[in-house]
Amino acid sequence: MDRRDFIKSTCSAACACIGVSAVSLLQSCEDNKAYEQNVDGEDFDTQLSIDISQSPHQNLESIGGTSVLSPNSIDSLGLLLVRSSADNINAFSRRCTHSSYSVNAFNSEGLAVCSSGHGGSFNTSGNVAVSPPSARLTSYNTSLINNTLTISK
Ligand code: FES
Repeated sequence: MDRRDFIKSTCSAACACIGVSAVSLLQSCEDNKAYEQNVDGEDFDTQLSIDISQSPHQNLESIGGTSVLSPNSIDSLGLLLVRSSADNINAFSRRCTHSSYSVNAFNSEGLAVCSSGHGGSFNTSGNVAVSPPSARLTSYNTSLINNTLTISK
C-alpha cells in the first residue's frame, strides 16, 4: 500500500465513524424532543369531572362530606375530596408529604391516615394532623357547577 492509498483508506474509515456518531446524536435529540412533547403535550388529561349525585360520591352533596378517587390522570395516587362549603369542594392529592405513601380515605374522625404505618395523618383541610409529615397535602383547582365537580392541575 502506497502513501496515497493509505491516506485514502484512513480518511474513508474516519468519515464512516463520524457519520455513525452524527446519526446517533441526531436520534438522541429526537428522543429528547419526543419526551418533551409527551411531558408538555396535550395527550395528557389535565382535568377530570365527576357527578357528585352519583355513587359513590353522594356524600359530597352535604357540607363536610368526603369522598375519594383512585389513581387518575390528575394524580397517580388518587384524590381526597371534601365539601368545604355550599359552592366549593377541595381536592387533595393522596400522596403523603412524608415519604409518598398513599393516604387512606377520611375516617369518621375526619382524618386521612397514611398507609405507611409511620403514623402520619391529615385533616379535612389537607393540613398535617399527626407528624411525621411536615407539609400539607398538595391541593388541586376545582370548580363545582350544579352536581358536576371538575378538578384540574
Ligand atoms: S409516608 Fe406518610 S407518614 Fe410516612
